[in-house]
Order: sequence, then C-alpha cells, then structure tokens
Amino acid sequence: MADMAAGAEGPLYIYSINRVETNIGRILNALAQTGRSHRIYYAMKANRYATLLKKLAQSRLCGVDICSPNELDHALACGFRAADMSFTGTAVSNRDLDRLLAHKSLTINCDTISMIRRIGERARGREIGIRINPAIGTGYGNQKRLVYAGTHATKFGIYREQWREALAVAASYDLKITSLHFHSGCGYLDAQLARWEAALTAALSFSAGLSDLRMINIGGGLGLPHKSTDACLDLSRWASIIRRHFKDLDVTVAVEPGGYIVKDAGMLVLTVTDIEQKVGTRFAYVNGGFNLHPEPMFYNLPCEPVACIRRDQAPSDWSKLTIAGNINEAQDLWAEPASMPPLLEGDYIALLNAGAYGASMSSNHCMRGDFEEILI
Ligand SMILES: Cc1ncc(COP(=O)(O)O)c(C=O)c1O
Repeated sequence: MADMAAGAEGPLYIYSINRVETNIGRILNALAQTGRSHRIYYAMKANRYATLLKKLAQSRLCGVDICSPNELDHALACGFRAADMSFTGTAVSNRDLDRLLAHKSLTINCDTISMIRRIGERARGREIGIRINPAIGTGYGNQKRLVYAGTHATKFGIYREQWREALAVAASYDLKITSLHFHSGCGYLDAQLARWEAALTAALSFSAGLSDLRMINIGGGLGLPHKSTDACLDLSRWASIIRRHFKDLDVTVAVEPGGYIVKDAGMLVLTVTDIEQKVGTRFAYVNGGFNLHPEPMFYNLPCEPVACIRRDQAPSDWSKLTIAGNINEAQDLWAEPASMPPLLEGDYIALLNAGAYGASMSSNHCMRGDFEEILI
C-alpha cells in the first residue's frame, strides 16, 4: 500500500476488484437460496470509478442502479446496456425525463404521481416501475439519517394513501406497471432484519392486482460492520426472509446494493504531514480531509485508520492519536483517538471501508479535492 501511495501525487483510493466480485458472489449465492429468478443492480452512486464500472460491465455479474441522466450516460460509456439499468431518482425534471425516455429498455421507477403523469404524456403505453414508500424502514443502528421510510413523511416514493390515484393516473395513459420498487434505508445489519422484514411485508402488499408485474426491487441498504461490536448481516437469514415472502409471487427479485458491494473493497491512503502534541492531545495530521470522504462525518459511519508501516512495537505499547485532516473545520477529524504504532512524518495511513460514498461524494472544499484512484 505504502509503495502504491508513494507513486501517487496525493491522497489515493485503492479498490480491490477481487473483493468487489467476492461481495457480489456472496449476494448472488444468497439470492440463489430464494428459489426465485433474481438480479443485482449495483448502485453506482456508491462508487462510479470508470475502471471499476468497466470491469463490472464485462463481468456481467450485475446491472446498475442509476439515479440521474449523467449516471446513465456514464454507465453506457462504461459498457452497461440500458436494459441492464434501473433508474430510481427524485425531483426528476422534464429535461431529465426526456433523456431517460430516449432509452426504451431502461426500467424507470417513478417516485411521484407527477412523474407517472409526465411519463404518460411523453410515452403513452410505456412500461414503468413505481417506487413505493412502505412507511417503515431501517438502516445502520436505526440512525434517523439512514432510514428512508417511517412515521414521518420522507421525500421518497409513493405512499399507500396515494396508491389509488397513482394507479388511476398510470391507467389513464395505458402505462404498464412492470416493476415495483422500495428502498427503506441504508446499512442494515442482523439487528435490523426484523424491521426490514416488516418493511418488505408492507412493500409487497402493493403488488396485489398488478397484472403486468415482472420484477420487485427490494432496494439496497445491506450493511457492513463499522465497529468491532457490530454483528455482520447474515445473508442466509436475509435470503430465507425473501424466500418466505416471495413464495407465491411469480416475479424476479431485484436488489440494488451499493455499500455492500464496494465499501470494504476500498481504502483511502493518506500521508502523515505533522505529528504534534497539543495540550494533552497527540495529533497526527494527514494530507486529506473529510471532503474526500464525507460519509464518516455526515452519517457517523467511522472508517478505521490503520498504519501502512511495520514498527517493532507491540500493540499494547501503541499510543493514542487524534487523526486530523487538512480542511479548515474543527470537525475535520478522522479518528479521536485511534490506537496507532509510533508514526513519523511521511508515513502512510489507510482508512478502511472507504470504497463507498467516498470518491463519489467528495467535494473540492478548500480546493483540496484532488485525489487519485486505482483498481487492483
Ligand atoms: C434508491 C436507492 N437504491 C440503492 C441505494 C444504495 O444503498 P446502499 O449503498 O446502502 O446499498 C440507495 C442509496 O441511497 C438508494 O437511494
């Protein structure tokens, strides 16, 4: 890692294709246990690095979940066909719609009744998907920011109380509802599975009477442990829930995970710029800040820092370091504190679990947005 980082101009994201494919393989194995036809749409909002997307398109292991026309164009340029994409986005303008509707085989999940109407006006008789809101959701630690459906109204999908009207509008334009979609939160683990099952039950009740239905997309949100106390998501348990609920439904089960596929396949490698003791706190400063990977700060999903060096010192003798980035904001801290071997200026540290929602969400805040990416 340190050698690769030494060859980079600054912060470096390293992704492992083996890990990505292993993660996809684990989900495919679980889906095979459901006894239903199935497919994965990788949520490319998690990581749109072109080299990675091209490999995934070649592998044909999955399609892609897209949420904007620009993601559509990027996925096409990386080798995915529109037929292998599922669009789920919010606040979709007419201009966006015109770009999406140019691709007849693209699955488009409507997020509002207005979107159904505007598609009907432009493409009478088209096949559509509808994103519904099951009014129950879950996410990592049930954190409010990671839960997309619940007792408070969220902006996502069509609610039960709107359902009749949604169906009537679709029917008035002869639109065929071939896909039903829900995504009720991000990062759920074993502890949240019961709640996720309740969301699934509520979502599936929308399928009654939809005679053209071919696919039900149960969203992304499959989580990974972020802390040593987190229990992994048991995919066999997850699959058995799907199996039970889909046994009488003759449809394809689709999933659209992002984080689960790429998060633990990536790390962000940074250089230590200064080590300094300040009023009882020992800081290690690094050449990249939260703007390069906003997820830990936005969502309180920590990335564990590890040193990319070997020093002859037992972990019991390591010291506590607060790891600070290079952005002029007080909260720009990667860890406070982390137990690390003795670090020197010029050493490298890697932030683990940085393969999702890092590069793709990064900004140029303080004009410190430069980084490189590599797929190994
Ligand atoms: C509609 C939709 N699908 C899939 C995803 C991917 O979620 P995750 O990365 O948690 O699997 C998201 C994330 O926000 C989403 O909004």
